[in-house]
Amino acid sequence: GTPRVQAPVWDSLSVGELASVDITSRDFAAEPFGFWARLRDDAPVQPVRWARGSTAWVITRHPDVEAALRDPRLRKNRQDALRPGVAAAGRGVPKVLAPLERGLLSLDGPDHDRLRRLVRQAFTPHRIELMREQAEQLTESLLDTAQRRGVMDLIGDFAAPLPLILIARIIGVPEEHVPRFRAWTRALLAVGERPLRSIGSVLWFMHYLRRLIVARSRDPRDDLVSGLVAARDGDDGLTTDEILAMLVLLLTAGHETTVNLMGAGTLALLEHPDQADLLRSGSDDPEVVRTAVEELLRFTSPVQTATERWSATDVEVAGVTIPRGSLVLAAIASANRDPAAFTDPDRLDLTRSPNPHLAFGKGAHYCLGAPLARLEAQIAVPALLRRAPALRRVDPTAPPAWRGGAIVRGLESLPVLL
Ligand code: HEM
Repeated sequence: GTPRVQAPVWDSLSVGELASVDITSRDFAAEPFGFWARLRDDAPVQPVRWARGSTAWVITRHPDVEAALRDPRLRKNRQDALRPGVAAAGRGVPKVLAPLERGLLSLDGPDHDRLRRLVRQAFTPHRIELMREQAEQLTESLLDTAQRRGVMDLIGDFAAPLPLILIARIIGVPEEHVPRFRAWTRALLAVGERPLRSIGSVLWFMHYLRRLIVARSRDPRDDLVSGLVAARDGDDGLTTDEILAMLVLLLTAGHETTVNLMGAGTLALLEHPDQADLLRSGSDDPEVVRTAVEELLRFTSPVQTATERWSATDVEVAGVTIPRGSLVLAAIASANRDPAAFTDPDRLDLTRSPNPHLAFGKGAHYCLGAPLARLEAQIAVPALLRRAPALRRVDPTAPPAWRGGAIVRGLESLPVLL
């Protein structure tokens, strides 16, 4: 692979040079924090290079990121934001993917509220708490297998299957079909940045879910798909496309993020053995575990920038005018390392409190799955440390294998010895 870009490199670049850095590359994912720090200091609202020759405006200071996430002028629905005659930033999604534009992350205002209401009950902290035992059993069984072998890929053998299997159970996807979902959801993440390469898989994903919707219409079960089908047939007027978009989003957001919290979080702990010891020895204390997971969320920012928003008018942020029709990215990873909001922000401090991180976003689109993600990480990370007192990387000197993509940041794989 290409050499890892070290943080000090960012210090030597001008703002113009920073603006032409490819923030969707693997090199960038390996060491983005120095880049964000430079923008925070020198250009807190800055257009940067984005996919297919377009430009994205990135917002990098904590208060501005928080305000942007709540700003109704920054729309999720691109069509709404761009009235006729306004040149769009980038291009829309290919037409065959249009149904996915009916998902929570593509809608604003009442359209969004209506759909969110329909799924909210399935993800309340109370409902999610009922999954604790399942999450614990699954964690132990994945770790049993790993321990027998003495070695595992932390991502492929542990951090990925746990959230994927749990969200699949909530939704009602049969367990034997779950292995195909990893390739499908990864294709979906890439579709905005590399459409041609990913569209085939995304179409298979949609085809599979349409068949699942038909199956549950005929033969309802006690699962989320059946619940949504019932809402479609009631007077909410939910359409099949809306159900499809919801399932795609839940399956993708439901594990492509938590895997990165557990993966990058564990890597951070391996690089800070004193903090790993702290969590290992406090792993029976729910308050220690809770505080630690919040810090891992802040430190790793599994969702590095919030998903795309479009300015429906000229919007002024920190004295800079973002023109109408622009693509805007609120840089969560940057806000989470802003020294104005956190003392010693680049230090991993598992006892940090209060911890006003923005890892789950803010406002109307605040992460629906936050209670589930927290439950999973609060169970899995301490269990791993407890069961593997000498946990270490197979090759501690190899640069960690990061995946590309500006929005979701995570490891491709992390071979470890238990
Ligand atoms: C939204 C982060 C896990 C489902 C979001 C947003 C963030 C986020 C930052 C807001 C995006 C924006 O405003 O542009 C995370 C992180 C996770 C995680 C860091 C794990 C550590 C999950 C899980 C689920 C989930 C497990 C599964 C249920 C969603 C959904 C939305 C969302 C459905 C859209 C909500 C809406 O638009 O109303 N997440 N998420 N997330 N997340 Fe998560």
